[in-house]
Amino acid sequence: MKFFLDTADLKELREAKEMGFLDGVTTNPTLIARSGLPFDETIREICALCEGPVSAECVGASFNEMFEEGKTLAALANNVVVKVPLTREGLKTCRALTREGIRVNVTLCFTSLQALMAAKAGAAFISPFVGRLDDRGERGMEVVEQIRTIYDNYGLSTEVLVASIRHPIHVLDAALAGADISTMPFDTLTKMIQHPLTDLGVEAFLRDYQRIPKR
Ligand code: E4P
Repeated sequence: MKFFLDTADLKELREAKEMGFLDGVTTNPTLIARSGLPFDETIREICALCEGPVSAECVGASFNEMFEEGKTLAALANNVVVKVPLTREGLKTCRALTREGIRVNVTLCFTSLQALMAAKAGAAFISPFVGRLDDRGERGMEVVEQIRTIYDNYGLSTEVLVASIRHPIHVLDAALAGADISTMPFDTLTKMIQHPLTDLGVEAFLRDYQRIPKR
């Protein structure tokens, strides 16, 4: 499974890269607003830092707006992936940008049928939002499981990028469901490494090592 970071925070991205866990990045307007930097500059900096795919989101509502915006975003760096919403206009944009050789991440996906439509429109990535479904009392991971089955049934190559991840169990379940990618906040990535028994074990070994007579 590939690990993407769902952030526009350059400090977090550098740390994840140093740890060797930065296969790609997803951003959205909310995350970029949080970073406090101009949009284009932020995307360029992230693309320079991360060799993998970096998703940058369109904000236009119509096909014409998103198609133009998508081409502008893709010109920012070779590894930009254009994010479009799972709407009629978004899917139309996905098909047109894909024909231009631009990779598209179809975002805000909440059902497996939506994911099938995105794959048929040529999406390179589909982003089911598991956390937002869970928040509503629906089972987000069931959607991921269905997408995996449908894509495998028809040999569809769109990568399943599980998004709106809130905690490590989401990553575990996404991995068990055979998702290609989990995109997560930095906090989730670090929590996946930590365990109190590991810390206690390290402390105990260190304590015992110090009791070994030195020559
Ligand atoms: C993914 O591409 C989105 O940016 C992100 O996962 C949304 O997560 P949220 O539901 O926590 O805002």
